[in-house]
Amino acid sequence: MASFTNHSCLHNVQHSFIDDIVIVRATKDIPAGTEILIRYRERATDFPKAAQASERFESSHPLFTQFKKEIMATPSQSTQKEVSIVKASVDDASAIKQMVDSAYAKYIDRIGKPPAPMSEDYYSVIQTSQVFILKEHNKSSIGAITLSFDDGSKTVKIDNLVVDPAAQGRGYGRVLMKHAENLALSQNIFILELYTNAKMYENIRLYAKLGFIEDGRRTEDGFDRVYFRKALDRGGKA
Ligand SMILES: CC(C)(COP(=O)(O)OP(=O)(O)OC[C@H]1O[C@@H](n2cnc3c(N)ncnc32)[C@H](O)[C@@H]1OP(=O)(O)O)[C@@H](O)C(=O)NCCC(=O)NCCS
Repeated sequence: MASFTNHSCLHNVQHSFIDDIVIVRATKDIPAGTEILIRYRERATDFPKAAQASERFESSHPLFTQFKKEIMATPSQSTQKEVSIVKASVDDASAIKQMVDSAYAKYIDRIGKPPAPMSEDYYSVIQTSQVFILKEHNKSSIGAITLSFDDGSKTVKIDNLVVDPAAQGRGYGRVLMKHAENLALSQNIFILELYTNAKMYENIRLYAKLGFIEDGRRTEDGFDRVYFRKALDRGGKA
């Protein structure tokens, strides 16, 4: 492997150490035969300086564009270590409600009324659905996802996905969605379903980006909804 490993700021793995063992984890798909690229200094130490520098420096060079996208858009290694996803308990109800209120407030004018998630009673949602909460430092809540498993139709419905506005754009929405996919797969369920409001334009783009396909539009409970489905990779299972 040593002959395939090289240094590059535009890495495709991250490495860490336990004693003299190097643990190398891919940060993107690496086709067979591709050189393994490690950066010597990890983002945890480089991030603040790199972020500041990239704010002052502009270039249209493709390498700079890729560097800026990776540095600015991916949670830092230290951040990734400090977040965890846990099943929500009723004690988390008020934190979830607060996150939902602040994250969804921007849609009120657009829709003409508070979006449905703002009217939910999270104390009861936590007891009737599977709610998972993304916590930072094992304490503060920065995101949540609500799932309903339908064993009959073999689907998992994503009833709500939210990331605290202060933590948005750092990959946490994707992390929560990946958690939903992994849970579905662990129960041999291969279809995810969700809907969003037709006026939440950014979500329509976001779900398409996350691999969902639009599956119809209808008006329900006074809301214009766009339905999406995603077929998960069965990994060879029939
Ligand atoms: C929707 C939401 C959960 C996304 O969380 P997030 O942590 O900001 O999302 P991420 O940083 O993981 O982004 C995931 C992908 O979606 C893209 N994305 C995020 N926000 C987007 C937007 N407004 N428009 C288009 N794409 C967007 C990101 O670029 C990223 O793709 P990439 O990894 O290829 O760059 C968050 O914005 C939110 O809580 N919004 C308010 C509540 C809401 O609308 N929930 C969904 C209701 S259906």
